[in-house]
Amino acid sequence: MTRAAFLGLPVSHLFDRSNPTTNELIRMADVLEVKNPDPPSFLPPEIPRVFHWGYGVVEDDFKDQFPPVKAHLEATRPALFSCDLGPSARRHEGVMPLSPILGAKAIRERAKSNMKLLRTAYDGPVGLENYNFYPTGLYNLVCDPDFIAEFLEKFNAGLVLDLAHAAISAVNMGFDPFYYLERLPLEKVVEIHVSRPYLPAEPRRLGVDTHEYPEEREWAWLSFVLERTRRAGLKPIVLIEYYKDLEILKESMLRLARELEVPEEPAQAQNFTRLHMPPSRYAAPKRFGA
Ligand SMILES: [Fe+2]
Repeated sequence: MTRAAFLGLPVSHLFDRSNPTTNELIRMADVLEVKNPDPPSFLPPEIPRVFHWGYGVVEDDFKDQFPPVKAHLEATRPALFSCDLGPSARRHEGVMPLSPILGAKAIRERAKSNMKLLRTAYDGPVGLENYNFYPTGLYNLVCDPDFIAEFLEKFNAGLVLDLAHAAISAVNMGFDPFYYLERLPLEKVVEIHVSRPYLPAEPRRLGVDTHEYPEEREWAWLSFVLERTRRAGLKPIVLIEYYKDLEILKESMLRLARELEVPEEPAQAQNFTRLHMPPSRYAAPKRFGA
């Protein structure tokens, strides 16, 4: 058996080196996702890394907080840089905007400026993560699948598909999660995030991003997407965004490893050198080159 995707592990600031489970989780991963320019020093250097930044590509903070990230990217050349696709305002607190809501043109201009800044430090593949929609104005346009598809095309970026965000967006906009997933540009998926959100049973209430461990509903979303990424010849990174209990995370990662198993195909990539990205004029970092 081989895997239809790379098994990723987000490196949480909660990871405690003295807990043996931390080491087990790290050793299970094909790839580590670092979220901070100052990651723990005990991460094994031989496991490939990608970098995910918590700021949206439209935000003022992207530029303001960039200097340490720039230094980190230049020093480590991660195989993928990702951040959030949006939001629709330059400043916010939680789900509430603190500055005017931007239209499509202004959103793209802000992103262009921040992407230009990113390219001063990093020439590798970029992924952008879908947000979860709340009706506050902060998520206008940026959760619309057509807008997402156009945006990724314009910036030559892959989709970091957060399944919980997609399901919350769907429910909060009045759609079925599978209908919403189907409308996203799944042919551009480079990474998938799995966790269990709160979705209300009653209409007119809002879903919430609770980051619980995945259950059958979430595995069904994942297999729906993996079926399509496999058909598109993609091999994304899949990781679980759950941090509350490392033993439960370990169980979830074992389940994820089973979910990713597919019969061996000789032509299929066996290692991280074949992370499939959208066509890019930016060369993959040489250390991961095939
Ligand atoms: Fe995520």
